[in-house]
Amino acid sequence: MALLKHFLFTTIIIALVTCYGTLQEEDPPATSIYVDDGGTFMSLINILSYLGATSHSLKVVNVNDFGAKGNGCADDTEAFNKAWEVVCSSGEAILVVPEENYVLRPIRFSGPCKPNIAVQISGTLKASDDPSEYSEDSRHWLVFDSIQKLFVHGGGTINGNGNIWWQNSCKRNKKRPCKDAPTALTFYNCEDLVVENLTIEDGQQIQVSFQDSLNVKVSGLNVTAPEDSPNTDGIHVTNTQNIQISSSVIGTGDDCISIVHGSRNVEAIDITCGPGHGISIGSLGAGKSKEFVSGVIVNRAKISGTKNGVRIKTWQGGSGSARNIQFQNIEMDNVTNPIIINQNYCDKKKKPCKKGKSAVQIKNVLYQNITGTSATDIAVKFDCSENFPCQEIVMQNIDLQCERVDDDAKALCENVEVSYLGHVNPRCNSERETMESGDLPLPHEKIHDMYDL
Ligand SMILES: *[C@@H]1O[C@H](CO)[C@@H](O)[C@H](O)[C@H]1NC(C)=O
Ligand SMILES: *[C@@H]1O[C@H](CO)[C@@H](O)[C@H](O)[C@H]1NC(C)=O
Ligand SMILES: *[C@@H]1O[C@H](CO)[C@@H](O)[C@H](O)[C@H]1NC(C)=O
Ligand SMILES: *[C@@H]1O[C@H](CO)[C@@H](O)[C@H](O)[C@H]1NC(C)=O
Repeated sequence: MALLKHFLFTTIIIALVTCYGTLQEEDPPATSIYVDDGGTFMSLINILSYLGATSHSLKVVNVNDFGAKGNGCADDTEAFNKAWEVVCSSGEAILVVPEENYVLRPIRFSGPCKPNIAVQISGTLKASDDPSEYSEDSRHWLVFDSIQKLFVHGGGTINGNGNIWWQNSCKRNKKRPCKDAPTALTFYNCEDLVVENLTIEDGQQIQVSFQDSLNVKVSGLNVTAPEDSPNTDGIHVTNTQNIQISSSVIGTGDDCISIVHGSRNVEAIDITCGPGHGISIGSLGAGKSKEFVSGVIVNRAKISGTKNGVRIKTWQGGSGSARNIQFQNIEMDNVTNPIIINQNYCDKKKKPCKKGKSAVQIKNVLYQNITGTSATDIAVKFDCSENFPCQEIVMQNIDLQCERVDDDAKALCENVEVSYLGHVNPRCNSERETMESGDLPLPHEKIHDMYDL
């Protein structure tokens, strides 16, 4: 992240010093095309600086010039493919999607490309909802694949048109076989990626996925799907390192944010979450797999009406670890399980879960400054493994109350080593677990060095 930040700052400074003058003097076509599409002067500066381009060298590629109709009806896929080829082979280029309505079949915007590419989505991209058009790759709709220095922004909307997939889901219709539906927007194998100011709605399954990527900055996303849409995780992070997700509003039928195997240095700041299943690390260790997640910070979140608040879930029989995790400054509003670790996760059909010999180790988790209400009387649930108890769990300044005034909030704790700092309510109640440890060295200091955000 430090690298990315450095990169952004230097390019902004260089651009402000070098491009600003150029822009004042000349009015090249690139500038005017961009401004016509509803951009502001400030965001033009942003793009130029991100791309390290001067106004002369920035190539503007408008999908309408490649035959896109944008009438909400015609299939615009070929026009987008052609425009992408030009953008990718040019570098220092911006793909412009004006404020119109485009209909797209699955598209893979593939690299490697010449570096420095922006995609400005001002209009609406709507998915074709004919499943037969997804026969080549039934798991993805829009994919950005193997691109370095990519900047996607524009205030537009990406609509997965997911209704047909939700209807056919085995969760809605028990007679149907369980099949995965497409992820609406995937960033795969990207590096130095910025995604800013977009609405993603009604994805077929996962709304946005960051996979196998490095140095990612995401902000200003509005991610929505109906509360009853199946498996519609908002933002999914898998095998991605150094990713910051900030100032985003997420409400779907599944996790607002899910962070799974291979993810390291993940920061989520200023997240508004709900409805949905909350912010989740895992599941990890399914099918006896060995999986790792480390260095997660969730700071300043407002979580409302969700099934979980902040959750870590792992399967019995897996191995690996989830460690160095901080949840801080979180406001819960009527959340069913505000704080939950479930190390005994298993398939609903197979309950009660069979105890495995191994488990994914959960270690060094800080819960700090968490307040608000729980929809049930169990506000804190640490359901940890007998053979691999949860270690170094620290709770500091926690005040969770029951939404119903006549109940006291409780904590359910199994096989967990917890220490408390400041006021903590509720607490685990066994003797060992309630030991005060005010002078316990906080094991979390390292996490800050890892970030340098
Ligand atoms: C994204 O939106 C924010 C807040 O409205 C704005 O300050 C920022 O300039 C926008 N970014 C781009 C690239 O348009
Ligand atoms: C997010 O998008 C939804 C659906 O398009 C819209 O109703 C809502 O107003 C948006 N919220 C924000 C905060 O932009
Ligand atoms: C709180 O959540 C519960 C269960 O999800 C729901 O039945 C109840 O209406 C909610 N209460 C408020 C005040 O929103
Ligand atoms: C926790 O909350 C207190 C009081 O609101 C605040 O002063 C402190 O900075 C918060 N801690 C963190 C780590 O943000």
